[in-house]
Amino acid sequence: MKNVLVIGSTGQIGSELTMKLRSLYSGNIVAGYIPGAKPTGELLESGPSAIVDITNEQQIAEAVSRYNIDTIYNLAALLSAVAEAKPQLAWKIGMDGLFNVLEVAREMNCAVFTPSSIGVFGDNTPKDNTPQDALRSPRTMYGVTKVSGELLSDYYFIRFGVDTRSVRFPGLISYMTHPGGGTTDYAVDIYYSAVRKKTFECPLAAGTFMDMMYMPDAVRAAIEIMEADSSKFAHRNAFNVTAMSFDPEIIYANIKKYKPDFKMVYKVDPLRQAIADSWPNSMDDSCAREEWGWKPEYDLDRMTQDMLEKLPERIL
Ligand code: SER
Repeated sequence: MKNVLVIGSTGQIGSELTMKLRSLYSGNIVAGYIPGAKPTGELLESGPSAIVDITNEQQIAEAVSRYNIDTIYNLAALLSAVAEAKPQLAWKIGMDGLFNVLEVAREMNCAVFTPSSIGVFGDNTPKDNTPQDALRSPRTMYGVTKVSGELLSDYYFIRFGVDTRSVRFPGLISYMTHPGGGTTDYAVDIYYSAVRKKTFECPLAAGTFMDMMYMPDAVRAAIEIMEADSSKFAHRNAFNVTAMSFDPEIIYANIKKYKPDFKMVYKVDPLRQAIADSWPNSMDDSCAREEWGWKPEYDLDRMTQDMLEKLPERIL
């Protein structure tokens, strides 16, 4: 039995991860949410939920105590473009919030998963096949909080023995939740345009390559790393993981295979373009593969087929 608290359970990753955890474990899988983002439908009905604002340490501690929590999935965050618009709030959620989670985990003996991101890398990192232990010097608030979060999580493991684990997610693509201000979200929006038979205005230029992953693989990565035998770990916070790398032209051509009338035009957003240009074209995830057996199941074509089949049921 496992008792898990998911902080940010109604967000991009949380809404799918919480349901998957409930299908796997028989214990309390608690959907933590902030007022205004209350779970609805199946997420609300299939298990317990609690108001857990990550900036409120007391609320986290109360949920952990009430439900006898042993693992916390800390998914509260602002994505990159939103974090640039609200850097102070991004720090408060990403860093003060993480500190609260780690303190509760230290005192109440919980394991902690906090996603990191391709956003930890910056202009001076090798762009192709970016190594696990490459230089991390981002110039975005999103990246700054993710690097600091990796360091703080490792510190809590080394200093206090808190079982912290993490992966550097690439852009995540899903038909369940609508994108919320990430630089990689164009690769979700493009499917919405294709399904709605609208011309897609691409905010990134042709030739902008980034790593991507379909949500079922991302959810599996988050669960598998927490279940992994940590005696094989040479790393913890955080492992590079990826499933595919493409630019707007490649995903457009792939969708056109199934929707020949689909049209895309470029309308580049300078903020998102600058962020995307500072991130890897493709990451080397061999450490995750070797240390805990990471292996993606979805490539671009399989993802496109699934998105074009499932998205219409949700939005049309
Ligand atoms: N999907 C994130 C973003 O674009 C990157 O981790 O902000």
